[in-house]
Amino acid sequence: MKKTNGTQYDHISTQYLHGVNESPDRWGLKDPSFDEHLGNVAGKVVFDLACGNGYYTRKLARAGARKVHGIDISKQMIEEAKKQDADLPNISYNVGDVAKFDFNKLKEQADVITAIFLLNYADSKDTLAELIENPARKLKSGGKFVAMLPHPELPIFDYPLQKTQEINGKPEEELKPGDVLRTHMTYGTDKTQTSFNFHWWPKEDYEHALRKAGFTNIIWHPVKPTKEAIAKVGKMVEPEINNPHMIILKATKI
Ligand SMILES: C[S@@+](CC[C@H](N)C(=O)[O-])C[C@H]1O[C@@H](n2cnc3c(N)ncnc32)[C@H](O)[C@@H]1O
Repeated sequence: MKKTNGTQYDHISTQYLHGVNESPDRWGLKDPSFDEHLGNVAGKVVFDLACGNGYYTRKLARAGARKVHGIDISKQMIEEAKKQDADLPNISYNVGDVAKFDFNKLKEQADVITAIFLLNYADSKDTLAELIENPARKLKSGGKFVAMLPHPELPIFDYPLQKTQEINGKPEEELKPGDVLRTHMTYGTDKTQTSFNFHWWPKEDYEHALRKAGFTNIIWHPVKPTKEAIAKVGKMVEPEINNPHMIILKATKI
C-alpha cells in the first residue's frame, strides 16, 4: 500500500541523513532561501515542525534561538536527530503528529514556527488545517510561520537531482487537490536514492488553511539557486532558475 504520511520516513531515515544533508539541493537551494526568509531568530523560541533528522533544528539553535522544539512523527528520524547534536543544549525533540500533538506540553509560546516540508503530507483539507491550526494556537500574536513546500504550480518535474511524477501517470493539468505525487531523489557522492510520496494542494488551499488559523501577510517566495551554487554545480541547479520546484510560504499571526 502506498504510504503518504510521515511514517514512511522511518524506513529511509539513514539515506535521508547521509544523502539529503550533503546535497547541493540543501546548500545551493534550500538553505540560502531558508536563511533569507527566516529573519533573525536570536533569543527566540522556535517550533521546528517535521524536523526530521534535525538539520534545520540545529541550524536554528546555532543561529542563537533561545530554545528550539523539534517535532516529527517518525521515531527513527528523531533518533537520528538526537545522535547529531549532543553539543546543543537549546534543542528538545518530540515524537508526534503535528496535527494532534499537545503543544501545551511545551512550556513557552513560540515566536516563530518553521515547517520545512510538512504541509504537503496532509492527506485531506481537514488535516492541512490542523497541521497549521494546532501549533499556531501556541504561537504569539505577531509570530511568524515559515514553511517550505514543493512548488504547487510546478508539481511535475524532471531535474538532475529530483524527478517527481503523479503516481497514476496523470498529466499535470488533471491533478486534483489531494492527489498523490511520488518523488525520486539522487543525492551525494555515492548517488544515494530516496523515494517518497506526498500530496498536491493548490496555493489557495494552503492560503485558506492559514487564514482559518488566524494568519495574515501570506507571501510566497520561490526557492532559487545562488550564484555560488550555479558556479559550483552548474547544470544540477540551473533548471531551478526559471522553474523552481520548491517554494517558501510565509505568514504572520494576527
Ligand atoms: C522531507 S522530510 C523533511 C525533514 C526536515 N524538515 C528537513 O528538511 O530535513 C519530511 C518530514 O516530515 C515528517 N512528517 C510528515 N508528516 C508529519 C506529521 N503529521 N507530523 C510530524 N511530522 C511529520 C516526516 O516524518 C519527515 O521527517
